[in-house]
Amino acid sequence: MPADPAPDLNHLPIGVFDSGLGGLSVLQEIRHHLPAEHLIYVADSAHAPYGRRSTQDILKRCIVIRDFLYHQSCKAMVVACNSATAICIDTLRATSPFPVIGIEPAIKPAALASSSGKIGLLATQATLESNRFQSLLQAWAGQCKVFAVPCPGFVECIERGDLNGPQVRALASPVIQDMLCQGVDTLVLGCTHYPFLIPLLTDLSNGRLNIINPAPAVARQLQRRLHDNNLLNVSGSSGQTHFYSSSLTAHTASIISQLWGQRADVQLMR
Ligand code: DGL
Repeated sequence: MPADPAPDLNHLPIGVFDSGLGGLSVLQEIRHHLPAEHLIYVADSAHAPYGRRSTQDILKRCIVIRDFLYHQSCKAMVVACNSATAICIDTLRATSPFPVIGIEPAIKPAALASSSGKIGLLATQATLESNRFQSLLQAWAGQCKVFAVPCPGFVECIERGDLNGPQVRALASPVIQDMLCQGVDTLVLGCTHYPFLIPLLTDLSNGRLNIINPAPAVARQLQRRLHDNNLLNVSGSSGQTHFYSSSLTAHTASIISQLWGQRADVQLMR
């Protein structure tokens, strides 16, 4: 296990990772909230999707990435993946030498926002089957009925940069129509890939769903944790963002650039 970091490390980067490119939706919010911070993003695309992997596989990959980020001198780590948070956030927190922030489906805000008392949730199988998710439901769903749908195929479409093509439309359309028929009025995005589908989901529902993306709440939580640990970068200058992937194909940089919204140079995570 890595040793404790030295004090006074405000200028050091924050590590952010996901099974693939979905965590870029969280990275965008972090960049927006914390413009001075240096950010390192790791896409574990060689092992995506996590949603259908075993608990042991996911934990193993999270530890490899945590150690990589530690060796990049990160001062904090954001697990920008609901599946990884559901499976191993407790282990990561107990064994990491820096603050670890996770992401969970926003059941509580959805229950507060829903008028019909019917909430839709799109998440991966790993998240939905986890004990952590069951506890979350018990704690916060209250009287609301939650229509939770694993969405096989969504992640793969987004990893290819397909955000609105015939294939992703054909996958998403029946899910959204079914939710509308059930009276769902509030939709929780329980996977960090799915915010990239918000325009499509809005279109398919004719704007009838209040779509909740928890990424801004994660960025605010990160800000609080950095503040509490005296780790905020208060330099006032613009932070840099570096991208790594465990799989570099001819398209990796262009898809990351497409989702990130500006040109991104990507290095192989070794
Ligand atoms: N983006 C991830 C999540 O939030 C994982 C998707 C996957 O790899 O299955 O759950």
